[in-house]
Amino acid sequence: MTSTSKVIVSDSRYINDPELHLGKSLFYYMLVRASKAKLVFEAGTDRGFSAFAICRALQRNASEGIPGHLVTVDNQTDRGDMLEGDEDGSVTRMIGDSVEIVRAFDRPLDIFIHDTISEPAHMRAQLEALVPHLAPGAIVYSSWFTETFVDFCDRFGLTYLEVADKPLNHWYRGSRYGLAWFDRPSLPT
Ligand SMILES: C[S@@+](CC[C@H](N)C(=O)[O-])C[C@H]1O[C@@H](n2cnc3c(N)ncnc32)[C@H](O)[C@@H]1O
Repeated sequence: MTSTSKVIVSDSRYINDPELHLGKSLFYYMLVRASKAKLVFEAGTDRGFSAFAICRALQRNASEGIPGHLVTVDNQTDRGDMLEGDEDGSVTRMIGDSVEIVRAFDRPLDIFIHDTISEPAHMRAQLEALVPHLAPGAIVYSSWFTETFVDFCDRFGLTYLEVADKPLNHWYRGSRYGLAWFDRPSLPT
């Protein structure tokens, strides 16, 4: 089913445009395709727009011989109506607090998506809980490029970028995301 036809039949059809503007979901798609991530963790599922796009990217990677999986977490039970079950095995959905779930996680994460809330204490706790679980070369994304995000990167030595999302011909004015990673150690000469 396409993303647009999913909106038309979903519980949220009365509050979403039937024509889907992908926005940051497209950004996630490109990130997963370009990085060939094996394990993606999304904190904040909401309706599942982003999870849907990430699953499509993972499935495309799998068709090219590089399988991967998404874990998406929300602390509300009524989320994820854009997803159909486990999307052919590409996603695991969890209900709970994303900080606690990341803290207890037992596999290395290639991409972490912080898309819960921007409240500084939560964001700080979330990012700190994440550090021991990052795979070598992992990418950390935040939907909020804030002082808390920059402080976190400076404190743990991650290189970061500010990504400007500027929609064309739309009332939504866009946003600024954060993208960070540990630099690879330089090769001995
Ligand atoms: C901005 S929405 C996520 C949007 C989604 N990633 C997308 O792009 O389609 C934020 C979601 O985070 C959830 N949330 C807020 N605090 C949370 C927490 N501490 N743990 C897990 N989920 C949380 C909210 O219930 C909400 O559904």
